[in-house]
Amino acid sequence: MCGIVAYVGSKQCQQLMLEGLKRLEYRGYDSAGIATIDHGKIRVVKTIGRVANLEDKLETVGAMRGTIGMCHTRWATHGGVTDFNAHPHTDDKSGICIIHNGIIENYASLKTYLEEKGHRFVSQTDTEVLAMLIGELYDGDLEAAVQAALRECTGAYGIVVMCEREPETLVAARKGSPLMVGVGDGEFLVASDGSAIISHTSQAFALEDYQVVKITPQGFRTSTIHNVPVTPKVQQLEIELEEIELGGYSHFMQKEIFEQPKALRNTFRGRFGIEDGRVVLGGLADHAKELVKAKRVVLLGQGTALHAAMIGRYLFEDLAKIPATSEFSSEFRYRNPMIEENTVAIAVSQSGETADTLAALIEAKDRGALALGVINVVGSTIARETDAGVYLRVGPEIGVASTKAFVGQVAALTLVAMWMGRRRYMSADQCSSLMKSFEQIPEKIERVLATDEHIKKVTQKYVDRENWLFLGRGYNYPTALEGALKLKEISYIHAEGMPAAEMKHGPIALINEGMPAVFIANRGRQYEKVMSNIQEVRARGGHVIAVATEGDENIRKYAEDVFYVPDIEEPLSPILTVVPLQLMAYHAAVLRGHDVDKPRNLAKSVTVE
Ligand code: G6P
Repeated sequence: MCGIVAYVGSKQCQQLMLEGLKRLEYRGYDSAGIATIDHGKIRVVKTIGRVANLEDKLETVGAMRGTIGMCHTRWATHGGVTDFNAHPHTDDKSGICIIHNGIIENYASLKTYLEEKGHRFVSQTDTEVLAMLIGELYDGDLEAAVQAALRECTGAYGIVVMCEREPETLVAARKGSPLMVGVGDGEFLVASDGSAIISHTSQAFALEDYQVVKITPQGFRTSTIHNVPVTPKVQQLEIELEEIELGGYSHFMQKEIFEQPKALRNTFRGRFGIEDGRVVLGGLADHAKELVKAKRVVLLGQGTALHAAMIGRYLFEDLAKIPATSEFSSEFRYRNPMIEENTVAIAVSQSGETADTLAALIEAKDRGALALGVINVVGSTIARETDAGVYLRVGPEIGVASTKAFVGQVAALTLVAMWMGRRRYMSADQCSSLMKSFEQIPEKIERVLATDEHIKKVTQKYVDRENWLFLGRGYNYPTALEGALKLKEISYIHAEGMPAAEMKHGPIALINEGMPAVFIANRGRQYEKVMSNIQEVRARGGHVIAVATEGDENIRKYAEDVFYVPDIEEPLSPILTVVPLQLMAYHAAVLRGHDVDKPRNLAKSVTVE
């Protein structure tokens, strides 16, 4: 979602802040703004649209000067997409300037209080309310005013504040919305994501919830919002610059699809004990006894992560023989979920920051579940809330449409299911043989990637169609959902994914002449049944595009177009069958002229409900 970059030091900061902001563009936003303190005066420039629009505006109105400043990309929550509602916001009294990620939930009552005090608002945002509140409480000490204001707020925030009367001070604070502080030599950056910091310094620390940091060029002090001092752990940021740059690809999504073999090699590294048929997951070791006794697994996620969680359900039932369910975390958190004894809740999330998944995990934990995480971003909020977990290790995912994180999530869930299965029902031989198949996956994905040109040509044939169906069964029913989601997200084509058998119960009415229906029809337990479903579509004039197993010539009789994937055990198949669907969505979006990495209305990580 929104992006934050702020700087204090000795350099002119406009350019370096905007470069950082560009690294956060992938998170999704609709407006951008910048502020610096120049000769004791705050100057703010903001605009709807892209960071590039902000740069154009700066060319017209004049560049920002100053060695302290902040900039922001906003994804609208309170108030429409307008210049006024874009951040930074200022107060009307004390020369306060603020940028904010998150939502101040009690902003309406605070606004009434401030209006009674005579403050006049120019935007419809909760952030301006916070600016006014800090201004109202300011009495010569910005840090104290921020702490006092935050004690009055409920909701989520990652904020950076500066003030004309303390022109060398930045104050930042966090609750529920990530903030990193980069520690350089006489200079500091604050950002909502380490990728905006890494080209300046690799030393950084993450603020924890309810923590505040006061930063000047001379140093920093961290405390809680109740002013209790805390000592942060400054650490080396584990991001390589090349991981967050395009490196010859046209889009991050494309780069990340092609990176999947390498990403999975990292997911597997050191985790296969083929000799004794044991999966090695250090992150679970401390909870081995509880995991062996597990009676139920509840998998939680949203979006693509939910699709991985749905595959996880099949994996836990098949490989570990544990009853399992998968759920939208947004629904789970507001139900009255029954958590029996020995339940393991698994949060699946790329970012580790999705608000609903975090809340659902906490709900499950409060009700006695052991909390596991299958997360990509190391040290993220959900990762810190879990009792144990497995990191995906697929590297930073920049493309808004999740690809390599999906295969990483499915792979990691398979490893957890095997780890549990091996301690319950699986023999060493079964486990070793599955691991050997696993090891071949990267090379098999490479074979699918090599068919990219063919996938592009097929996509070209159908790209003008506005309604698509994606159908699969068993392990590849969630893959069908993921294929439909990918197409929707970036090409804005209406696509529905569903279990192939469900089609007969209503959606079949949609099928008309030439409607593309993508079937995941690899060899597996339900192959024949999928064939019958394919014929039902054909009989009504639909055009079938099938994802099939290499060597399956039979399928050509039924499908107009075929994407082949190498043969593999069924539980591992979604990791291969999803790849042509990712490539097809990518090509459809490019052919339709859309900005693949910045799809409209979407955010990379959704940190609000
Ligand atoms: C957003 C993104 C999706 C993602 C979902 C869950 O909606 O646009 O691509 O799948 O959040 O994100 P997470 O970080 O929890 O995996």
